[in-house]
Amino acid sequence: MAVTLTVNGESRRIDLPDDTPLLWALRDGLNLTGTKFGCGVAACGACTVHLEGVAVRSCQTALGDVAGASVTTIEGLGSPASLNAVQAAWIDNQVAQCGYCQSGQIMQAASLLAQNPNPTLTEIDEAMSGNLCRCGTYPRIQAAVLDASRRLKEV
Ligand code: FES
Ligand code: FES
Repeated sequence: MAVTLTVNGESRRIDLPDDTPLLWALRDGLNLTGTKFGCGVAACGACTVHLEGVAVRSCQTALGDVAGASVTTIEGLGSPASLNAVQAAWIDNQVAQCGYCQSGQIMQAASLLAQNPNPTLTEIDEAMSGNLCRCGTYPRIQAAVLDASRRLKEV
């Protein structure tokens, strides 16, 4: 049965079974390929998107369970012409290496800062601990979250 939800501010109808993971609905149903598949079992964070503004693992979220809800992906967080503060901090701190995990990292960080605009290093590490990076960009992620926190205070 088709499911209708709001994705990046637009109402979208996705004609896939209710038990389809949101990750595949986004990637295969809507061609929003910025959200990545890593593990499929909520253990890596590569598939992180926002559901009503809060970070969730889209690989473990059924499409049918988010009918009518608002989902934001990395494509909807900002744009090249209007970067989100987290994206701008990521670029200036040169966080990405291979980049595969980074959309999930950014979505997790944006969710953290929305809930806690002034996180301590410990709070950053706790919030980001479920987002794995095989390239080991963790120190730069930590620096970029602090930088994004500063930028958001200046807005
Ligand atoms: S692919 Fe969803 S947490 Fe790894
Ligand atoms: S930048 Fe390569 S896995 Fe994180």
